[in-house]
Amino acid sequence: MTKARRLGVRTPVLYAVDPVLHTLTFEYVEGPSVKDVFLEFGSLGVNKERLGNIASQIGDAIGKLHDGGLVHGDLTTSNMLLKNDANQLVLIDFGLSFTSTLPEDKAVDLYVLERAILSMHSSCGNVMDQVLAAYHKSSKQWSSTLNKLAQVRQRGRKSTMVG
Ligand SMILES: Nc1ncnc2c1ncn2[C@@H]1O[C@H](COP(=O)(O)OP(=O)(O)OP(=O)(O)O)[C@@H](O)[C@H]1O
Ligand SMILES: [Mg+2]
Repeated sequence: MTKARRLGVRTPVLYAVDPVLHTLTFEYVEGPSVKDVFLEFGSLGVNKERLGNIASQIGDAIGKLHDGGLVHGDLTTSNMLLKNDANQLVLIDFGLSFTSTLPEDKAVDLYVLERAILSMHSSCGNVMDQVLAAYHKSSKQWSSTLNKLAQVRQRGRKSTMVG
């Protein structure tokens, strides 16, 4: 999470590590998850502009992570929070994250998000296209990653397919 922050991606500040209780204490981010906001699309003031703004923040953040060699590993809309006051995207849940520069790993990262958005937020239209458009702008290595994403879509996320 510290590495993500160095790359310009917001994450909660780590306040304390307790080696005896095995606990981490993080800053509490006041605000809804992207999941909650996407599910409310069409009502309660969640309009296309708000959706587009969030999608572009998501694509921008993932592009920054990936160019810095960081793969989140669990990109779902419940692992993204929106800070109440500024509507600022904050990424959480880095338990499955790892460092990699492989287009394959980055493509699978995006694919996991794509599946999550398609299944959970089908009413949000082309929101994943907007995420990918922002990723394209944000990542210098967009070309190799998005080419790989097309391949990953064909075969699913597993790198070895048997039968
Ligand atoms: N720093 C934080 N500030 C505010 N809420 C948080 C914070 N960290 C986590 N949460 C809330 O707790 C939920 C679970 O946190 P997290 O994703 O890290 O754990 P998890 O075990 O993966 O849970 P899940 O399976 O729901 O994703 C998040 O979806 C979010 O709603
Ligand atoms: Mg989570």
